[in-house]
Amino acid sequence: MKKKILVIHFSQTGQLNEAVKAFVAPLQASDTVEVTFEVLRPVEPFPFPWPFLRFLDVFPEAVYDDPPPLQPSALKGDEQFDLIILAYQVWFLSPSLPVTAFLQSELATKLLRDTPVVTLIACRDMWLMAQERVKARLQQLGAKLVGNVALTDEAGSLLSFFATPLWVTTGRKGPFFGGLVPRAGVAPERITACSRFGERIRERLQGDLPLQEDLLRGLQAVRIDPALVSSEKAGQRAFRIWGRLLRALGPSRSWQRKPVLAFYAVFLVTLIATVIPLSMLIKKLVAPFARERIAAQRAYYSAPSGEE
Ligand SMILES: Cc1cc2nc3c(=O)[nH]c(=O)nc-3n(C[C@H](O)[C@H](O)[C@H](O)COP(=O)(O)O)c2cc1C
Repeated sequence: MKKKILVIHFSQTGQLNEAVKAFVAPLQASDTVEVTFEVLRPVEPFPFPWPFLRFLDVFPEAVYDDPPPLQPSALKGDEQFDLIILAYQVWFLSPSLPVTAFLQSELATKLLRDTPVVTLIACRDMWLMAQERVKARLQQLGAKLVGNVALTDEAGSLLSFFATPLWVTTGRKGPFFGGLVPRAGVAPERITACSRFGERIRERLQGDLPLQEDLLRGLQAVRIDPALVSSEKAGQRAFRIWGRLLRALGPSRSWQRKPVLAFYAVFLVTLIATVIPLSMLIKKLVAPFARERIAAQRAYYSAPSGEE
């Protein structure tokens, strides 16, 4: 009997779809594997490129897991899959809203129970807290996370702070300002190289081996920057405070939110340009004195795939 894999995905620029395509190509090439795709479609599509204030306006809902309705799926929920690949991008340190909507759906409750799941993330650089939320939800639903792949933008932590927002608000990848801000997005060769994960899964399935936590080990599926752990935690706390205020002012896209969002934009850019580089520098400087804690953080956040 054929092994069945379900891929759940959504992408605005097509970047995550490209990663999914490369990942599953070896599985689709196998006669013994059947791959089904489920594209998440919000009833009211999110804009792309994003008008700047609309881009910011989405953060309270992202942070508070308040997703928009999705179009109905062709799946009923009683289908059995040997593996589910959940591909998602990060929006404001949270899983993107279409993915949150799926994870909260009745369909997810039925499909994910007792099923091995691999998460595939393609984002700017900060995915740790979003993955914590996905992990918690998968656990609630009785799914088993057996692997995680995280692709991050080639511009690096600092420059992608500018490159990625420019990309999603203009629709152009750059480089920008004569090369001062490099090209946004994941390096194309890293996307192509995702086929190695599909190959590993194909080998396991063909050998009738169980899909468990060692599934993607030894493939450099993730890389952890320990300097980002506390930045992400602090960012998440700040988003929740500002998010609560904005949600109290009015619903998404209401005019009451706009002045506070404009103020917040200035605050955020100042923070990104000053406090974050400084805190990352301090983290790097104290790193030699916190080796054990950093090693424990790397092991925790890189699980189950590991960095090796
Ligand atoms: C509203 C919004 C918020 C984002 N917030 C983050 C973030 O907090 N961390 C991150 O690493 N990337 C963030 N990104 C970048 C996305 O994760 C992703 O790399 C980019 O939107 C392209 O994804 P897609 O074309 O596959 O949809 C954000 C993008 C958008 C549109």
